[in-house]
Amino acid sequence: MKPLEYIIVGVGGWGGYWCREVLLPLAYSGKAVAVAAVDRDPEALKRSQEFLMLPSDRLYTDMASAFANHRADFAIVVVPPACHESVVDIALAHDLHILSEKPIADSMDACARIYHKVRSSGKKMMVTMSHRFDRDKQTLEALIKGGDYGPLNYVICRFTNNCRKFGSWGEFRHRIPDPLLIEGTVHHFDIFRSLCGADAQTVYAKTWNPTWGEFAGDSTAMITMEMTNGAKCFYEGAKANASTMNGWTQEYFRAECRDATLEMDRRRIRLLRSRDLGPETTDVELLQRPTWMNPWLAEQFCDWLNGGPEPATRLEDNIQCCALLFAAVESAHSGSPVDVQEYLRKSLGT
Ligand SMILES: NC(=O)c1ccc[n+]([C@@H]2O[C@H](COP(=O)([O-])OP(=O)(O)OC[C@H]3O[C@@H](n4cnc5c(N)ncnc54)[C@H](O)[C@@H]3O)[C@@H](O)[C@H]2O)c1
Repeated sequence: MKPLEYIIVGVGGWGGYWCREVLLPLAYSGKAVAVAAVDRDPEALKRSQEFLMLPSDRLYTDMASAFANHRADFAIVVVPPACHESVVDIALAHDLHILSEKPIADSMDACARIYHKVRSSGKKMMVTMSHRFDRDKQTLEALIKGGDYGPLNYVICRFTNNCRKFGSWGEFRHRIPDPLLIEGTVHHFDIFRSLCGADAQTVYAKTWNPTWGEFAGDSTAMITMEMTNGAKCFYEGAKANASTMNGWTQEYFRAECRDATLEMDRRRIRLLRSRDLGPETTDVELLQRPTWMNPWLAEQFCDWLNGGPEPATRLEDNIQCCALLFAAVESAHSGSPVDVQEYLRKSLGT
């Protein structure tokens, strides 16, 4: 089968990872190749060139020329969330499918507009919820859903980091409102959804920024959720702590099932059960497959465009993740719990 063709917008920070770790292997697998790349920063374009295997005349600093000059099957969006909608608009105007970084956009209004525009266009859109598709999280999900430990009662997550210095978590995150939730917790919200096998019903978020956190928005949060199937979740997230105990790819999750405690801590998963005294613990082997995170998600997207199965993080599902995210933002700002399903209905006007 002929490889699909794409235009990538944003090859800077995380886009650099995409070019090296995701798109080069995707080209070698024969699934998709670049026809053009766009970034405001010419230096970022130069750095991406060898991985995208593009000649210099296919590197653009303006989106309009790239999309006007090259036909493609899909667009890849790796610019900050506030710019996602402008890329979606130009991609749809040129009849392209969309593979976008999370979150769909930087506000629920923008997410809802994108949702309606994409659905009425008939094009396919998928969101790369990288961390949910990491090896440790997939193993934990499989253990819970395997059913050997009885029904799930509740899930706890700890995600704590020392990124308190301005710029240490990428400059734009230190300038935007609600950076922890929008740029960090969105991943953990989707992991809670997948572990629980349900969307969120209600969320209550308390967020703040300690005086030593060099952030314009809130960098720290304690959040409680109840899912539509009754499972409960609790989240501790912090970007301005004194230590990185459980940072990216090293998060702590604990799933309390009726017949076992399943603990994931820094990529190690243990099963705990007690009789009389302290718990008996058993280490669990992590699942194996050839790719995880974005390389796997990009393959899923290409297979979908070629008639394969719908991926879990297609737009129609991921809108639930963004509803949870922005309902949590609303809760943090209002100080009240928010009914996520009602919030989603209102946001979509349904
Ligand atoms: N899935 C993950 O684990 C993960 C990790 C990091 C970032 N991200 C996501 O990736 C996206 C980009 O984040 P980042 O960390 O790379 O940001 P960044 O600021 O480091 O880089 C963004 C790049 O986009 C370019 N850019 C910005 N606006 C543009 C525009 N309108 N047109 C062309 N180029 C433009 C910038 O020049 C820069 O090179 C965000 O949606 C973020 O949430 C996801």
